[in-house]
Formats: sequence, C-alpha cells, structure tokens
Amino acid sequence: MIDELFLDKAHLFLIVLNHRWQGARGEAEHLARLLRRYKIKPGDRILDLGCGNGRIAINLAMMGYRVTGLDYSNLFIEDAVEKSRKYNVYDKVEFIHGNAFDIDKIFNREKFKLVFMYWTTLIGYSLDPAKDLELLKKIHGIVEEGGYFMLLNHASIESLDYRALEEGVSHYKDLDEYALISKATYEPARSILHISWRFYRKMNEDLMFIGEVSYDIKIYSMHEIVEMSEKAGWKLIDAYCSIKTMEPYKPGRCSLNIVFTK
Ligand SMILES: C[S@@+](CC[C@H](N)C(=O)[O-])C[C@H]1O[C@@H](n2cnc3c(N)ncnc32)[C@H](O)[C@@H]1O
Repeated sequence: MIDELFLDKAHLFLIVLNHRWQGARGEAEHLARLLRRYKIKPGDRILDLGCGNGRIAINLAMMGYRVTGLDYSNLFIEDAVEKSRKYNVYDKVEFIHGNAFDIDKIFNREKFKLVFMYWTTLIGYSLDPAKDLELLKKIHGIVEEGGYFMLLNHASIESLDYRALEEGVSHYKDLDEYALISKATYEPARSILHISWRFYRKMNEDLMFIGEVSYDIKIYSMHEIVEMSEKAGWKLIDAYCSIKTMEPYKPGRCSLNIVFTK
C-alpha cells in the first residue's frame, strides 16, 4: 500500500517533498552537527537510505560530505539528480535508483561509515516486523566496524496524539501553490496508522481537487525499535528529541532520533 504513495502516485508525494526543501539547509546543518559529535568526517562514506528527492543528501554534499542517496522511486531520483545539478554538486553526490531490500547486492562489498534514514523512512512501511528486522540486518551488513546507523525524525507510538486520532480530525497543510488535507485513524491492536491525503491546487480563492492517496504505516515504540535493532546486531548509543536542540528523547514530546553503532 505504501507503493501507492511513493510509486503509483509519486507525483503527489513529490509536492510534499518539494515543500520540505524550504527548510533543507537548516535540517542538514543540524545533521552535520550530529555527525561531528560522532566524529563522522566529510571524507567518510554516508548512505541516505530512502533519500526522496535528495533534500538531505544534496545539502550535506554542499557542506563537503560524501553522500550516496538511494530510493526506489524513479521520479524522486530523477528529480534529485536534477537538483544536484542546480546546486552544483552533481559530481559530489551519487544517486541510485534501487530497492532498500537489495542493498546487500547493490553495495556488495562496499561499506559505509554511516547509514541514515531521515523522516520515518522504511521501518514500518511493510507492516511486517520480520521484514523490518531483515532490513536492519541488511543495513548492518553494509556498515563498517565502529560505524553508525541513525534513524532520524522518526514516528513513534509515544509521539502519537491519540485524542486527535480518536476524533478523526482532518488537518489542512499549506504547500505553497498546493494544499493537502490529511486524515488519520489509529488501529491499536496492530499499531497501524491509516492515513489518507487529499491534494488540491490553489486557484485564486478556490481549491481544485487533484488527487488522493491512502496508505498504512506501522508505528513502533522506541523500545520495540531498540529491541529489533539489537537483534540485528546494533548497539544503542543515544536517543534525541530533536537533532536541532539535541535534547534527550522524551516520550510524548517529540519525534524519535536514535543513534546506533556496530
Ligand atoms: C517519507 S519519505 C522520506 C524521504 C527523505 N528521506 C526525506 O527526508 O525527504 C520516504 C522515502 O522512502 C522511499 N522508499 C520507500 N520504500 C523504499 C524501498 N523499499 N527502497 C528504497 N526507498 C524506499 C520513498 O520512495 C520515499 O522517498
């Protein structure tokens, strides 16, 4: 079902990705500070897994980092390559169109100092904990000894606003020349969020409906993510509320940002 969002109707999600570019430089600067904290240097190999249209990878490359971005949406990768030209880092950042579940074959014997996933990427999409564990193991296989895995800006059970979900509240989001109305419900027995997004183009005072997409995502608690990652061989080092403030993770207050090492 997540394929509807990223593949079948990727043109709609591209609107959301493009909107997020407004804060891209700031987000990448916060991430760069985190990288310095763990002594990850510009020459070290970094993989942005599920890189979308390159917002983080390109901005890190502009700061001198050596980043590879991988995404299974051809539309997003083509857009990322085009943006890397626009920002003059075409030869400093690499984009690969591929499935994260194939990273063991794609990278064969290549190793990274860091693999990160930014903004609830991949873990929880298959709705199958066994697949999530498989992916965590595959990531472990392509990171060098002493290297890192970071799950950044990630959703967690602790960060859900249950009351809003119960009431089935719709949210309006302004996306410049577009608008998005989202609705979500939560299924506690399986911890699955059912989300539907309706996209509109702004036309003077009116909104013209241009398409809709529905998807499900499994939401884990921090301890479930930690247990699953430890099964895959990862060691927890730190968890933050936000990479901007670097405050420790506080359930109920913020998104999840976890740093693991190998
Ligand atoms: C919420 S977006 C985040 C994109 C990006 N990290 C960002 O911050 O803009 C999730 C991304 O994961 C990608 N993705 C989902 N499943 C994937 C898979 N199996 N292999 C590679 N990429 C995948 C989607 O195409 C999408 O670009």
